Amino acid sequence: MGRIKLKGGALTAPVPPALVTVADGDEKNVLTVAWTGILSTVPPTTYISVRPRRHSYGMLERSREFVLHLPPTALAKQVDYCGTFTGAKVDKFEKCNFTLLPSDEVAAPTIAECPIALECRVKTVLPMGSHDVFIAEIVSVSVDENLMDANGKLRLERADLLAFGHGEYYALGRRVGVFGFSAVKRRKTPDKKKGNGNGKRR
Ligand SMILES: Cc1cc2nc3c(=O)[nH]c(=O)nc-3n(C[C@H](O)[C@H](O)[C@H](O)COP(=O)(O)O)c2cc1C
Repeated sequence: MGRIKLKGGALTAPVPPALVTVADGDEKNVLTVAWTGILSTVPPTTYISVRPRRHSYGMLERSREFVLHLPPTALAKQVDYCGTFTGAKVDKFEKCNFTLLPSDEVAAPTIAECPIALECRVKTVLPMGSHDVFIAEIVSVSVDENLMDANGKLRLERADLLAFGHGEYYALGRRVGVFGFSAVKRRKTPDKKKGNGNGKRR
């Protein structure tokens, strides 16, 4: 099996094409950011990489807060719109018909149509070349109540999250495992002393 060598490039996929809201005084805006992820679990820390020429950049720099939303596939067009048009010229919230809710910990609004919203406070800004990296603590999270099951478990599959890779949008596929499932030993016959043998992680 041969492999083709390509030149170094920003090819990590899938990534979430997140909708990031920002507020600076009376002005608020939303832009799409795919260069995002998690840096630390404790304290919960994320990052967004933003080009300095974006209208949102100055707002982020001044307010040092944002809300990072994970959008559902139903919002693919709005996500693309918010990543194509600038808030310097259009009100993207109005154009996309987004319902805005007050956030719990930050001034930037929460978009009700997004099932998951991470409220973030910027700790550090690192120049990284074309983009500057805003490293931020996730100070609060809100999720659509429909994502929670009767046992209080977050059912992410109900969020129908949108993914992005190499310039294209995708719907997430089927679940193929659960964290740690590679380490679970399945017993052919249940052993009452050692466990119930149902293959669940202990
Ligand atoms: C799918 C997608 C992902 C994007 N990811 C980023 C990103 O990670 N960082 C960035 O600076 N711009 C990114 N952009 C471009 C900005 O969202 C775009 O320039 C937007 O119009 C900026 O809005 P603003 O001028 O209102 O701040 C992305 C656009 C799309 C469509």
